[in-house]
Amino acid sequence: MTSPSLLQDPLLRPVPTLEGHKVLGKTVLLERLGEGGAGVVYRGWHLNFRIVVAVKVLRPELAADADYVARFHREAHATLQITHQNVVRAHDLEERDGLHFLVMEYVDGLSARQWIHRRGRMSVDQALTALAGAAAGLAEAHTHGLVHQDVKPSNLLLARSGRVKVADLGLVGPAVDSDDEAAAAARRRVFGTPQYMAPEQWDGAPPQPSADVWALGACAYYLLTGRHGLPKVAKGELRRLVRQEPFPTIGGVVRARPGFGDLLERCVDRDPARRFTDATALHQALLALGGVDEALLRDPDFAPGGEPVGLPANEVLARIDDQRRRRPGPAAVSAAAAPRPKVRAAPARSSAAPIVVVVLLVAAAVIVVLLRSQG
Ligand SMILES: Nc1ncnc2c1ncn2[C@@H]1O[C@H](COP(=O)(O)OP(=O)(O)O)[C@@H](O)[C@H]1O
Ligand SMILES: [Mg+2]
Repeated sequence: MTSPSLLQDPLLRPVPTLEGHKVLGKTVLLERLGEGGAGVVYRGWHLNFRIVVAVKVLRPELAADADYVARFHREAHATLQITHQNVVRAHDLEERDGLHFLVMEYVDGLSARQWIHRRGRMSVDQALTALAGAAAGLAEAHTHGLVHQDVKPSNLLLARSGRVKVADLGLVGPAVDSDDEAAAAARRRVFGTPQYMAPEQWDGAPPQPSADVWALGACAYYLLTGRHGLPKVAKGELRRLVRQEPFPTIGGVVRARPGFGDLLERCVDRDPARRFTDATALHQALLALGGVDEALLRDPDFAPGGEPVGLPANEVLARIDDQRRRRPGPAAVSAAAAPRPKVRAAPARSSAAPIVVVVLLVAAAVIVVLLRSQG
């Protein structure tokens, strides 16, 4: 991970009562989750929605490119229309003082990449379940006429519940023009992981759902082996490999589910016309294999892995909650800027009620005894 340079951006306002924390729009940033080609992702607390959210802040160099920003907004706008249990929900798209950021659902879990790093490769049915969830989410996008174009393990998020959610739908690279090598190169820079790009994407073909099918097939290889199907080599060499060599086969690994190996080979056929046309067809084929079960990916012991940007997240949330209680109403941002209240531990508040009840009962008993003794 690189330095949290965006957090030092003077455009972000500090929260006076929360050391080290900054407000971006309506979101208090809590932790830095990671960084990709398009920007930096934070976990934050949305002061109006009153939920934990993830915020992706576009890199300043991309934000300075008017064409890119226009496309980013157009595509992100399309994503805002999609509500599906297997797609990371986009909540809002904002611009403040030159910073562009997408507020989205926070997925409490691990990306498939982090999952594999921590636990090693998946079992056949775990991979089948993860792929079916991702295919269901992509099917929804394809039905809306959207092609993801950047399906890769770090964009498949596995929630603690076992549900898979496709992230970064609609986060596009600069326009690709087959004659414009500079634009294609810029796009590859932004996307960062060309190992999951279909052969035709290298040639700048217009995005088709079958390119997402390829990428999901390449993800399957990673989930089942813990290795990328295509090596991390220089881009020129990768381009040659992906266009000329067959994608490595995996049949033996998935022998336990007859038909799975053939299905995966069909996903990574170099000829897009021979693949599943779109994720809807792929999803149906995956379900037909049997064995899909979210319980296989459930992980209640997951520990969040973000880097705190100031006070521990729990303390920040307790303080914001405390300030809100003192000043009810929607003035959430100003509440965050209110004089710093003393932090009271939540359990102390909740344990006070039984004590009060006991004291009242004892007092009542004493009064009854006194009244009787007088009578
Ligand atoms: N909505 C989200 N909820 C939780 N974590 C997320 C979310 N979006 C992204 N992340 C995390 O932030 C990291 C960085 O994301 P991103 O900038 O998209 O780069 P990349 O996808 O290339 O890793 C991801 O690897 C993932 O772990
Ligand atoms: Mg991503």
